[in-house]
Amino acid sequence: MIIKKIPFARGEITVPGDKSISHRAVMLGSICSGTTEIYNFLSGADCLATIDCFRKMGIDISVSEEKIIVFGKGLKGLSKPEQVLYTANSGTTTRLLCGLLAGQDFDTVITGDESIQKRPMRRVTEPLSLMGARIDGDFCPLSIKGSPLHAITYNMSIASAQVKTAILLAGLYAEGTTVVNEIEKSRDHTELMLSAMGADIRTNGLSVSISGARKLQAQKFEVCSDISSAAFFMVLGAIMPNSEITLKNVGINGTRTGIIDVFRAMGANMRIENIRVINNEPVADITVSTSDLKGTAISGDMIPRLIDEIPIIAVAAAFASGKTVIKNAEELKVKETNRIRAIVDEFKKCGIDITETDDGMIINGGKPVFGADFKSYNDHRMAMSLAVLAQMADGESSIDNISCVDVSFPGFFDVLYKIGK
Ligand code: S3P
Repeated sequence: MIIKKIPFARGEITVPGDKSISHRAVMLGSICSGTTEIYNFLSGADCLATIDCFRKMGIDISVSEEKIIVFGKGLKGLSKPEQVLYTANSGTTTRLLCGLLAGQDFDTVITGDESIQKRPMRRVTEPLSLMGARIDGDFCPLSIKGSPLHAITYNMSIASAQVKTAILLAGLYAEGTTVVNEIEKSRDHTELMLSAMGADIRTNGLSVSISGARKLQAQKFEVCSDISSAAFFMVLGAIMPNSEITLKNVGINGTRTGIIDVFRAMGANMRIENIRVINNEPVADITVSTSDLKGTAISGDMIPRLIDEIPIIAVAAAFASGKTVIKNAEELKVKETNRIRAIVDEFKKCGIDITETDDGMIINGGKPVFGADFKSYNDHRMAMSLAVLAQMADGESSIDNISCVDVSFPGFFDVLYKIGK
């Protein structure tokens, strides 16, 4: 698709609901007692795959424009699916389901699309096996034989909320108290939601513990807008001349706000206003206007707080003056595509001075950028980052397989063209 260019980016927008929270609301809603109403649910392909999997396990889920209603059947209420559970492009669905299904009294098979079949699953199957799970395979399709589980204490070697959550969900079905010690703090939506639902869960710094068998109570979830989707428009507002964008109702949970810290370090014109708490999650309105960005350094425990935003942060870095160095981000290699390689290859096509490193990249920003025929690698965040980049490039750009934006941000281009009018 040829990317139409907008002359400026101005206005107030609300980006779709948070992907991580939407997945968890359906999953936890399915295994709690009572009826869960979910407002502002992200109707992206990933979260729809989660709904589909739970319907296949006998959960009644009603979907309307206003809300999703999940008719929970309790911790032991799932039933054996007659078909393979298909998780499409969704790593969160796949890995969290492994944890949830390991302790059921039925067997399942999970698989997803071409990308999912290449993503590492050993990171979840290994700790789950230590709990007594029987899961065959390190890659999808995975065959899960429901088994009695016991608690473990697990020291994680990578920062991953998907791994942490898979263990915590298995912990709900295990005898005893399961403890997960993180290496760096990853997003904590699972902990916040489980705690609100009455689970016996405790967090102490980098350590989370959960005890099994406690009944979960249904909640009403109002999902905030996804900061990972807001990020595309934060960057656009900062790098485009004559621009100012306000993003309403954005989740600013501290485990997700690395991009705000990076924007401050880069000297962005940004205001965070109207801070409030909804469903235990802090939310705010974020306004970003045209800025003279400067390069920065990103590494260490900042990485899990912005892992999904690195492709779009790289775009900001390309239009900032000076050098941006991103380190300790090797996890990018096992996302929907190898995002280090994808960013470097695509950025080079349009004249950006970028060097691939083992665990990240170095970008010398502020050089002229010209249009190119970009590849999305069927990766939603690559496609949207390149669409923002294309706005600032001299000349015409195209991006292939653009419909992958629907994975996390259906209507992305409608929002983009709306703020350019
Ligand atoms: C997610 C965790 C992160 C993130 C992904 C969503 C989640 O993955 O990249 O988009 O909802 O738990 P990792 O756990 O692999 O870091």
